[in-house]
Amino acid sequence: MMDDQPARPNADAETAFKASGGALLRDIWYVAMTAGELRAGKLHKRMYLGEPVVMGRNPDGSPFALRDICPHRAVPLSAGQLLDGSGGGQTVECPYHGWRFGTADGVCKHIPSLVEGQPFDLEKITVRRYAVAEQDDLIWIYMPSEPGAEPSGPPPRFERMVHHQGASEGRVKFVETAELACQMDHAVIGLLDPAHTPFVHKSPLWRSSKTLKEKEKHYAPSEMGFTMLSHEPVNSPLYTWVLGPGVKVEIQFLLPGLRAESITTERHSFLGLAAITPIRDDLCEIREIMYWNAPSLDLIRPFARPFTHTFLQQDARIMKLQGEGLSHDPPLMQIPDADTLMVWYRRLKREWIKAGAEGREFENPVKPATLRWRT
Ligand code: FES
Ligand SMILES: [Fe+2]
Repeated sequence: MMDDQPARPNADAETAFKASGGALLRDIWYVAMTAGELRAGKLHKRMYLGEPVVMGRNPDGSPFALRDICPHRAVPLSAGQLLDGSGGGQTVECPYHGWRFGTADGVCKHIPSLVEGQPFDLEKITVRRYAVAEQDDLIWIYMPSEPGAEPSGPPPRFERMVHHQGASEGRVKFVETAELACQMDHAVIGLLDPAHTPFVHKSPLWRSSKTLKEKEKHYAPSEMGFTMLSHEPVNSPLYTWVLGPGVKVEIQFLLPGLRAESITTERHSFLGLAAITPIRDDLCEIREIMYWNAPSLDLIRPFARPFTHTFLQQDARIMKLQGEGLSHDPPLMQIPDADTLMVWYRRLKREWIKAGAEGREFENPVKPATLRWRT
């Protein structure tokens, strides 16, 4: 199989990496937004994996997510309003005929046009509800393969890093978002790809494409992905200057598209979480979410926004350019070792889909490995 031999550039038709990308993963948690974005008292119109979703907060502050289509005649509920139910919980009122649905359960609570003698079982009218969770200052949404299917566990945590030494409470210190006009797989592969950095992300903070250096990184499988094992960063003096001595870096990748870079020192920690969420088949959202407990980073926060914005727009630009070529559905290549992470991603994805279809536990297909490249 091609995946086991990344050196072979030409795949047979069956295993070729399709320019159009693969299926979007289901039965898995996605980052919907940061907790701060989901303001109380407001309806938020969103789309995830091509499904229209209306989100908001219940009176107790907990998040809710419902299908953004009124079951009566399909008007988006997000165009309606939130109402405090008399006696019951909060409802969302459809702007067309005023039907009201409980935000906590999606069940119809009221149909204004009904008169006495028109018995109607409101309980039977429901809007699809999505499981949502608020964790580490993020709102997560579970996208099931079967409507109504519930998650078997909470969203992934990066507890060890976010709550490093108990000094941080998992509060998002900084977030920057960008849209990537591409299929999810290409966005994730772009995120994992070590070889594009000196060419796409030219920055005075790291090496340019003219002074590439050989790197060797050690990887191990994790529960739902793989981890670049803890090591001293190449730019150690810079990190030491900002965070103090004893700098260690660890980078985790987790399905469906989460990359968590943890930088820890003797006293401080930083977590940069890049989360890719598909809006539709041809559009994704990427969030760079940062947590830290180092006061020195509070000082440089004002500079983080333009820097991160530029960084994400560089990726957005290259994804758009790639889309030009991909629209012709060309065969694609992969080489050792710089493209191996992409091979692992595709292998993980295939196993996730297969395990789901066969109703069995996911078995991580990635094996421990040392990879080398020049970047
Ligand atoms: S379309 Fe929503 S109440 Fe009629
Ligand atoms: Fe990039």
